[in-house]
Amino acid sequence: MTRVAIFVSGGGSNMVKLVESMTGDHPGRACVVLSNQPDAGGLKKAADMGVPTLAVDHRPFGKDRQSFEDALQTALVPFEPDMICLAGFMRVLTAGFVSPWQGRMLNIHPSLLPKYKGLHTHARALEAGDGEAGCTVHEVTSALDDGPILGQARVTVAPDDTPDTLAARVLGMEHQLYPLVLRRFIEGKRDTVFLP
Ligand code: GRF
Repeated sequence: MTRVAIFVSGGGSNMVKLVESMTGDHPGRACVVLSNQPDAGGLKKAADMGVPTLAVDHRPFGKDRQSFEDALQTALVPFEPDMICLAGFMRVLTAGFVSPWQGRMLNIHPSLLPKYKGLHTHARALEAGDGEAGCTVHEVTSALDDGPILGQARVTVAPDDTPDTLAARVLGMEHQLYPLVLRRFIEGKRDTVFLP
Protein backbone atom coordinates (compact mmCIF):
# COMPACT_ATOMS: atom_id res chain seq x y z
CA MET A 1 0.00 0.00 0.00
CA THR A 2 1.20 3.47 -0.86
CA ARG A 3 0.53 5.84 2.03
CA VAL A 4 -0.69 9.21 0.75
CA ALA A 5 -0.59 12.46 2.73
CA ILE A 6 -2.99 15.10 1.40
CA PHE A 7 -2.39 18.83 1.99
CA VAL A 8 -5.35 21.24 1.94
CA SER A 9 -6.00 24.87 2.84
CA GLY A 10 -9.73 25.17 2.22
CA GLY A 11 -12.89 23.18 1.68
CA GLY A 12 -11.06 20.11 0.51
CA SER A 13 -13.45 18.84 -2.15
CA ASN A 14 -10.55 17.39 -4.16
CA MET A 15 -9.21 15.76 -1.00
CA VAL A 16 -12.62 14.11 -0.41
CA LYS A 17 -12.57 12.65 -3.94
CA LEU A 18 -9.02 11.36 -3.44
CA VAL A 19 -9.87 9.74 -0.09
CA GLU A 20 -13.07 8.23 -1.49
CA SER A 21 -11.17 6.77 -4.42
CA MET A 22 -8.62 4.96 -2.24
CA THR A 23 -10.65 1.88 -1.25
CA GLY A 24 -10.87 -1.73 -2.35
CA ASP A 25 -8.15 -2.81 -4.76
CA HIS A 26 -6.75 0.72 -5.02
CA PRO A 27 -3.00 0.61 -4.33
CA GLY A 28 -3.08 3.74 -2.15
CA ARG A 29 -4.57 4.82 1.17
CA ALA A 30 -4.82 8.27 2.74
CA CYS A 31 -2.63 8.30 5.86
CA VAL A 32 -3.17 11.91 6.94
CA VAL A 33 -4.81 15.16 5.82
CA LEU A 34 -2.72 18.17 6.76
CA SER A 35 -3.64 21.86 6.62
CA ASN A 36 -1.84 25.13 7.23
CA GLN A 37 -5.27 26.54 8.21
CA PRO A 38 -6.44 25.08 11.52
CA ASP A 39 -10.06 25.97 10.64
CA ALA A 40 -9.98 24.55 7.10
CA GLY A 41 -13.26 22.84 6.23
CA GLY A 42 -11.25 20.01 4.71
CA LEU A 43 -9.94 18.93 8.13
CA LYS A 44 -13.44 18.27 9.43
CA LYS A 45 -14.40 16.41 6.26
CA ALA A 46 -11.31 14.23 6.57
CA ALA A 47 -12.00 13.48 10.24
CA ASP A 48 -15.61 12.57 9.33
CA MET A 49 -14.19 10.05 6.85
CA GLY A 50 -11.95 8.56 9.55
CA VAL A 51 -8.69 9.97 8.19
CA PRO A 52 -6.18 11.36 10.73
CA THR A 53 -5.79 15.14 10.50
CA LEU A 54 -3.07 17.58 11.34
CA ALA A 55 -2.90 21.37 11.41
CA VAL A 56 0.38 23.26 11.13
CA ASP A 57 -0.57 26.93 11.24
CA HIS A 58 1.83 28.94 9.05
CA ARG A 59 1.09 32.27 10.75
CA PRO A 60 3.28 31.94 13.88
CA PHE A 61 6.25 31.43 11.54
CA GLY A 62 5.75 34.78 9.78
CA LYS A 63 8.19 35.10 6.89
CA ASP A 64 10.30 32.18 8.14
CA ARG A 65 9.29 29.66 5.50
CA GLN A 66 12.05 27.28 6.37
CA SER A 67 10.90 26.84 9.97
CA PHE A 68 7.32 26.36 8.77
CA GLU A 69 8.44 23.71 6.31
CA ASP A 70 10.59 22.01 8.97
CA ALA A 71 7.51 21.86 11.19
CA LEU A 72 5.48 20.36 8.32
CA GLN A 73 8.11 17.73 7.69
CA THR A 74 8.42 16.85 11.39
CA ALA A 75 4.66 16.62 11.83
CA LEU A 76 4.40 14.25 8.86
CA VAL A 77 6.96 11.72 10.08
CA PRO A 78 4.70 9.69 12.44
CA PHE A 79 2.20 9.13 9.59
CA GLU A 80 4.92 7.57 7.41
CA PRO A 81 3.67 8.90 4.06
CA ASP A 82 5.18 7.53 0.85
CA MET A 83 3.91 10.48 -1.18
CA ILE A 84 2.08 13.81 -0.94
CA CYS A 85 -0.90 15.18 -2.87
CA LEU A 86 -1.36 18.93 -2.72
CA ALA A 87 -5.10 19.58 -3.07
CA GLY A 88 -5.86 23.27 -2.81
CA PHE A 89 -2.84 23.87 -0.56
CA MET A 90 -2.27 27.60 -0.76
CA ARG A 91 1.30 27.94 0.54
CA VAL A 92 4.25 28.01 -1.79
CA LEU A 93 6.69 25.25 -0.82
CA THR A 94 10.39 25.99 -1.31
CA ALA A 95 13.08 23.68 -2.63
CA GLY A 96 14.03 22.79 0.95
CA PHE A 97 10.73 20.96 1.40
CA VAL A 98 10.13 19.90 -2.19
CA SER A 99 13.52 18.36 -3.04
CA PRO A 100 13.29 15.34 -0.72
CA TRP A 101 9.75 14.68 -2.03
CA GLN A 102 10.42 15.33 -5.70
CA GLY A 103 9.00 12.51 -7.80
CA ARG A 104 6.64 11.67 -4.90
CA MET A 105 4.49 14.82 -4.77
CA LEU A 106 1.55 15.82 -6.98
CA ASN A 107 -0.47 19.04 -7.31
CA ILE A 108 -3.70 20.00 -9.02
CA HIS A 109 -3.88 23.42 -10.63
CA PRO A 110 -7.03 24.98 -12.14
CA SER A 111 -5.66 25.87 -15.56
CA LEU A 112 -4.32 24.15 -18.64
CA LEU A 113 -0.65 24.49 -17.69
CA PRO A 114 1.70 25.93 -18.79
CA LYS A 115 -0.95 28.65 -19.13
CA TYR A 116 -1.88 30.68 -16.05
CA LYS A 117 0.43 29.61 -13.28
CA GLY A 118 -0.41 31.20 -9.93
CA LEU A 119 -3.74 32.72 -8.90
CA HIS A 120 -6.94 33.96 -10.61
CA THR A 121 -6.63 31.41 -13.40
CA HIS A 122 -10.28 31.54 -14.49
CA ALA A 123 -10.47 35.33 -14.68
CA ARG A 124 -7.26 35.32 -16.72
CA ALA A 125 -8.59 32.67 -19.13
CA LEU A 126 -11.79 34.69 -19.64
CA GLU A 127 -9.86 37.93 -20.09
CA ALA A 128 -7.73 36.29 -22.75
CA GLY A 129 -10.85 35.15 -24.60
CA ASP A 130 -9.84 31.49 -24.41
CA GLY A 131 -12.28 29.02 -25.94
CA GLU A 132 -11.33 26.31 -23.47
CA ALA A 133 -10.14 26.08 -19.92
CA GLY A 134 -9.40 23.24 -17.56
CA CYS A 135 -7.14 21.76 -14.95
CA THR A 136 -3.80 20.00 -14.69
CA VAL A 137 -2.28 17.43 -12.35
CA HIS A 138 1.50 17.62 -12.32
CA GLU A 139 4.50 16.51 -10.35
CA VAL A 140 5.71 19.20 -7.98
CA THR A 141 9.11 20.76 -8.45
CA SER A 142 10.47 23.80 -6.66
CA ALA A 143 9.22 26.06 -9.51
CA LEU A 144 5.60 27.20 -8.94
CA ASP A 145 2.95 25.20 -10.86
CA ASP A 146 5.65 23.59 -12.95
CA GLY A 147 6.89 20.02 -13.22
CA PRO A 148 5.96 17.10 -15.47
CA ILE A 149 2.30 17.10 -16.51
CA LEU A 150 0.50 13.83 -15.70
CA GLY A 151 -3.06 14.73 -16.68
CA GLN A 152 -5.26 17.47 -18.07
CA ALA A 153 -9.02 17.90 -18.33
CA ARG A 154 -10.68 20.45 -20.59
CA VAL A 155 -13.97 22.32 -20.48
CA THR A 156 -15.45 24.58 -23.14
CA VAL A 157 -15.78 28.22 -22.13
CA ALA A 158 -19.36 29.47 -22.53
CA PRO A 159 -20.00 33.03 -23.78
CA ASP A 160 -21.73 33.96 -20.52
CA ASP A 161 -19.17 32.36 -18.20
CA THR A 162 -17.96 34.30 -15.18
CA PRO A 163 -14.87 33.31 -13.18
CA ASP A 164 -17.22 31.61 -10.70
CA THR A 165 -19.23 29.58 -13.21
CA LEU A 166 -16.06 28.55 -15.00
CA ALA A 167 -14.39 27.61 -11.69
CA ALA A 168 -17.35 25.42 -10.74
CA ARG A 169 -17.25 23.57 -14.06
CA VAL A 170 -13.49 23.10 -13.91
CA LEU A 171 -13.76 21.88 -10.29
CA GLY A 172 -16.11 19.14 -11.48
CA MET A 173 -13.37 17.99 -13.85
CA GLU A 174 -10.73 18.26 -11.11
CA HIS A 175 -12.77 15.75 -9.11
CA GLN A 176 -12.55 13.26 -11.99
CA LEU A 177 -8.97 13.95 -13.02
CA TYR A 178 -7.11 13.88 -9.70
CA PRO A 179 -8.26 10.40 -8.55
CA LEU A 180 -7.56 9.02 -12.03
CA VAL A 181 -4.04 10.45 -12.12
CA LEU A 182 -3.23 9.48 -8.53
CA ARG A 183 -4.12 5.84 -9.16
CA ARG A 184 -2.09 5.75 -12.37
CA PHE A 185 0.82 7.46 -10.62
CA ILE A 186 0.91 4.88 -7.82
CA GLU A 187 0.78 2.18 -10.49
CA GLY A 188 3.94 3.68 -11.97
CA LYS A 189 2.34 5.28 -15.04
CA ARG A 190 3.91 8.60 -16.00
CA ASP A 191 2.39 9.29 -19.45
CA THR A 192 -0.09 12.17 -19.63
CA VAL A 193 -3.83 11.36 -19.53
CA PHE A 194 -6.46 13.63 -21.00
CA LEU A 195 -10.14 14.08 -20.07
CA PRO A 196 -12.66 13.97 -21.53
C1 GRF B 1 -9.12 23.84 -6.63
O1 GRF B 1 -9.64 24.56 -7.71
C2 GRF B 1 -7.65 23.64 -6.82
O2 GRF B 1 -7.29 23.35 -8.13
C3 GRF B 1 -7.14 24.99 -6.41
O3 GRF B 1 -7.91 25.31 -5.27
C4 GRF B 1 -9.16 24.67 -5.36
C5 GRF B 1 -9.34 23.83 -4.13
O4 GRF B 1 -10.63 23.35 -3.99
N1 GRF B 1 -5.73 25.03 -6.24
P1 GRF B 1 -10.94 22.26 -2.89
O5 GRF B 1 -10.35 22.73 -1.56
O6 GRF B 1 -10.33 20.96 -3.34
O7 GRF B 1 -12.44 22.19 -2.83
